[in-house]
Amino acid sequence: MKTILITGGAGFIGANLVRRVLALQPEWRVVNLDALTYAGDLARLADVADDPRYAFERVELADRAAVAALFRRRPIDVVFHLAAESHVDRSILEPALFIQSNVLGTQNLLDAARDAKVERFLHVSTDEVYGALGPTGRFTESTPLSPNSPYSASKAAADLLVRAACATFGFPAVITRCSNNYGPWQFPEKLVPLMICNALDQKPLPVYGDGQQVRDWIHVDDHCDGMLAAAERGRIGEIYNLGGDCERPNLEIVESVLRILGRDGSSIRHVADRPGHDRRYAIDASKAKAELAWAPRRRLDEGLRETVRWYQEHGEWVARVRSGAYRDYYERQYGGRLRSPVRPEGARP
Ligand code: NAD
Ligand code: DAU
Repeated sequence: MKTILITGGAGFIGANLVRRVLALQPEWRVVNLDALTYAGDLARLADVADDPRYAFERVELADRAAVAALFRRRPIDVVFHLAAESHVDRSILEPALFIQSNVLGTQNLLDAARDAKVERFLHVSTDEVYGALGPTGRFTESTPLSPNSPYSASKAAADLLVRAACATFGFPAVITRCSNNYGPWQFPEKLVPLMICNALDQKPLPVYGDGQQVRDWIHVDDHCDGMLAAAERGRIGEIYNLGGDCERPNLEIVESVLRILGRDGSSIRHVADRPGHDRRYAIDASKAKAELAWAPRRRLDEGLRETVRWYQEHGEWVARVRSGAYRDYYERQYGGRLRSPVRPEGARP
């Protein structure tokens, strides 16, 4: 039996990974470390809570002593490090929090994992560390780091701390950098679930600027399989890009959601752009495909349809996570924007 520590296991990708590991790896035990921030919710894991191979530990990564104590309490063989503040818009509102969790938290985890002599540490990063692309080209693992938001800067800082641990201490880490995930259990602050939930509630759909920013979409299950492949087959000290080979402008994603729901585009509102908004991301994942025997398998049209259905069937969860603090966040982020929509350049009056 191996014991795997998944940090951020109560979040969107983490919870999908916990469930996938328990299903695919009968010989693995999973410890889920999570601070349960606004984005963490154990309801995502209600169906596995009683599995004897699963345990939850509420630990704040910025609390160095608590992180070290966890590793003393539980023997850990492999770490999948996902816990992070993950939302670009919130990082613009409150950058310092991102340094606490994503930078300091990562260093605390690295130190405790090194003391515990873990056999492998998978650091889960993002394509956003590379910054923005023009109309052509794709990010490779040697594209220079050029983060543009407090979120992506904090993730790039964490990547460099992981790199330093490998070079200085021979720490057995591998880094993955993945593109935009979608799928079940994503917090409805991110583009896909926000648009689905607003459309279901007959609310306006706030598209930043002209909506022609491009993201590379990948189903969360494909990302989970990429992380598992990188932990198993990745070379220590190496970085692997993971992407969905699926570049789409934001507006097209929003229109696809509306089409699946049988609606027209009248609820779309172009609103003030995100400051420092990266125009285009695109991933070259050929290194992961060649070395890890991994490739994305899910098709966007099917995946989106399934995701829309999932949100239709989980209205109670959505209503709960969109009450309370979410309303304050929504008003702060969108209130002014929706009261003064913008007309994108070139659009007809
Ligand atoms: P999420 O916001 O849904 O979940 C993050 C989880 O981490 C939450 O459960 C939260 O409670 C926990 N957490 C946050 N700060 C913590 C702290 N200081 N201590 C302990 N736990 C803490 O995020 P997600 O979308 O599931 O992303 C997971 C990881 O994957 C992040 O590292 C993110 O940068 C990376 N990533 C995400 C995407 C994406 O499209 N969502 C793409 C590439 C990489
Ligand atoms: O690329 C990987 C990254 O993808 C991850 O590292 C991040 O954790 C994850 O949040 C995501 O970042 P983005 O900023 O790309 O995701 P978000 O869903 O916030 O936005 C996707 C695009 O949609 C982006 O161009 C901004 C735009 N957008 C987003 C929201 C929430 C809108 O136009 N309107 C919105 O209301």
